[in-house]
Amino acid sequence: MKLKKNIVLTGFMGTGKTYTGRVLAVRLGTRFIDTDSLIENDAGIPIREMFEKFGEPHFREIERDIIRKVSDQNGVVIAVGGGALINPENLNDLKRCGIVVNLTASPDVILSRVERNPDRPLLQVDDKIGKIKELLAVRAPFYDKADIAINTDGKKPEQVAEEILEAVRDKWIL
Ligand code: S3P
Repeated sequence: MKLKKNIVLTGFMGTGKTYTGRVLAVRLGTRFIDTDSLIENDAGIPIREMFEKFGEPHFREIERDIIRKVSDQNGVVIAVGGGALINPENLNDLKRCGIVVNLTASPDVILSRVERNPDRPLLQVDDKIGKIKELLAVRAPFYDKADIAINTDGKKPEQVAEEILEAVRDKWIL
């Protein structure tokens, strides 16, 4: 199987973009690019620390630069951070270079996947489920702009990857 375009995984924190992206890339025999990892490599510090020291706007600037760069790639699997699509320039670049897949999950499932992980600066609040619901509501119109949506509730990354392959096979894979 050879990809005609990139496959871009987006969706809220805890929807499994990174795990699924890895599995998908192996299935396709192609490279996996995780923009959050590139951002951390570039900055030399974890995203959590970047938020603490320099604030979210600084993170978003670096995220924008990285997404501009990775949009040059072809035939790879790319996972972007859960807030990337909010910037219309990111959305344009990603749609141009790939098929954008929105991974979804219910708030309870998201909470169960992220609650013990301190690496999500936006969810370091007391009312985590409230924050998840609030951010999901604000972001829904942006996630809706993806080409396809796949629900991940109760599924392993392998199953989600298969569903993505099924959905993109005819149109986007040679
Ligand atoms: C963010 C999601 C994170 C990371 C950063 C901001 C967001 O990525 O980019 O903490 O705004 O939703 P994941 O979606 O991979 O957790």
